[in-house]
Amino acid sequence: MRTAPRIAAILVLLCTPAWADSAGPAPKPGNGASARQNISGFFSHFPFEGGEAIYRGVCQGCHMPGAVGAMGAGAYPALARDGNLETGAYPVMIVLKGQKAMPGLGMQLDDQQVADVVNYVRSHFGNRFRDKVTAADVKAMR
Ligand code: HEC
Repeated sequence: MRTAPRIAAILVLLCTPAWADSAGPAPKPGNGASARQNISGFFSHFPFEGGEAIYRGVCQGCHMPGAVGAMGAGAYPALARDGNLETGAYPVMIVLKGQKAMPGLGMQLDDQQVADVVNYVRSHFGNRFRDKVTAADVKAMR
């Protein structure tokens, strides 16, 4: 009896990722979607909830912890004590559409997420703007 085909079969089994056999209809989000769906979901929609989590997960990589900004290969403006945030529509527009080196994030963040992160930035890091933008405001600006 030849063992080579058996070894090959075992290798195929070992190397097949767990999700490869779940090629049925796509499960609805939130019911234990496979790793593959989670990964593709990550690129199309950021999973973070709440202004602070969204800031940390999405904005902080460029604007830095504490929103102090950074100078290096590019200039990432500080959002701390930033008078430009006075009008809520301004940061909403930038987050949705982007501006120069900042990518628009309107495809990855839903209306509530944009409102939450904008309200968070406008009321933290030394910013004290009390009025809040709403998901409806964001929707109207898309
Ligand atoms: C890939 C890097 C990057 C990410 C991620 C990013 N930004 Fe920016 N952001 C920039 C750059 C660069 C600018 C400056 C754009 C310009 O030159 O006009 C900027 C500008 C801004 C401004 C305008 C600041 C001012 O004083 O005029 C706001 C507000 C802002 N970003 C908010 C956010 C928020 C909120 C997030 C997260 C949802 C975010 N940014 C994510 C790079 C980024």
